[in-house]
Amino acid sequence: MPSITFIHPDGRAQQIEASVGESAMQAATRKDINGILAECGGNAMCATCHVYVEEDWLARLPAMGGDEDALLDGAAAERRINSRLSCQIKLAADLDGLVLSLPDRQL
Ligand code: FES
Repeated sequence: MPSITFIHPDGRAQQIEASVGESAMQAATRKDINGILAECGGNAMCATCHVYVEEDWLARLPAMGGDEDALLDGAAAERRINSRLSCQIKLAADLDGLVLSLPDRQL
């Protein structure tokens, strides 16, 4: 069971237990993480599940698809080199310890 740490814009860290096979967005919304809106329900259509992946983890994530890449250009908060959509991060056991920072806004 992978654990994920979300870092809020004020620096507060919140660790949750996730399930293998769910997305980071699903785990966050199930645990009421403020800052993940996920308005489209994980269909890669809204970009309100934007996160910044801690650099050490970036290369260990599945590759970004074209839809995700395009959507991130329209994210409310600044797009950075480590930006990803959390609904596109499928959790596996080897992602235990993943650290994701939340942007200052999703809308
Ligand atoms: S939940 Fe809408 S793009 Fe991720």
